[in-house]
Amino acid sequence: MKRLTALFLSLMFVFSLAACGNTQGDSNQKTGSTVESTKSKSSAQTDPTMEPESLEKKTEGNPEGAEGKTLVVYFSMPETTEPDNMTQEEDNSVVVIDGEVLGNTQYVAYVIRENTGADIFRIEPVTPYPTDHDTLVDLAAQEQDDNARPAIKDSIENMEQYDTIFVGYPNWWGDMPMILYSFFDEYDFSGKTIIPFNTHGGSGFSNTISTIAELEPDANVNQDGFTVSRNNVQDAEPDIIAWLNNL
Ligand SMILES: Cc1cc2nc3c(=O)[nH]c(=O)nc-3n(C[C@H](O)[C@H](O)[C@H](O)COP(=O)(O)O)c2cc1C
Repeated sequence: MKRLTALFLSLMFVFSLAACGNTQGDSNQKTGSTVESTKSKSSAQTDPTMEPESLEKKTEGNPEGAEGKTLVVYFSMPETTEPDNMTQEEDNSVVVIDGEVLGNTQYVAYVIRENTGADIFRIEPVTPYPTDHDTLVDLAAQEQDDNARPAIKDSIENMEQYDTIFVGYPNWWGDMPMILYSFFDEYDFSGKTIIPFNTHGGSGFSNTISTIAELEPDANVNQDGFTVSRNNVQDAEPDIIAWLNNL
């Protein structure tokens, strides 16, 4: 009888361990990781802009100090900060969420951050770009002709702690803005996963994903990046979340 009870108890123990293992496995699958770190103070969090309240975090992020953290890096060039009386060009370059004016790519970056618990870093030039549309368009074309490498204002400390990096940018003249080339020159992405996302006025990614793969031959560049027209950015949150869940 005693032996039967002991056998029964051992079986119960094994089953309960298996059940714990499954629970953890499920939550990892859904969230990518288990502990919240969205608001953690990271050296990478140099974007001081308050995010709109509507961007609620739907999954949890990496454990503090854990290996293999996720980072969202983006460049975005909203051409105004005023939510009212925009010109057509200004309107094209921003979304207004809860009365706050965000660049198109900036908004996508925020949604990714909120749904992955990643840290975030905004690429900003040492010399600010002009907000006047025509001047900006001309300058961007000139930078492309010159194969320029505009200097980036801040830097990402402890890049080695990140193994997955979402990289977002607007399409400029059928390519990435040249400051993205500065970014890829500056950091070593060997062994890391790069997941591109972009916003555009009709051209999608152009060839930018191949370009990134050429610039970073030792990285794993995800070919299924997220791209959205500036006309649809405002309503893109469900699509971004669906894309994230498929990654
Ligand atoms: C300098 C410049 C060049 C652009 N060139 C293109 C282009 O070649 N193809 C395209 O689809 N959109 C182009 N656009 C439109 C932007 O990609 C689009 O408005 C984008 O959503 C802006 O994102 P942002 O607000 O994050 O800067 C260009 C915009 C600017 C300012």
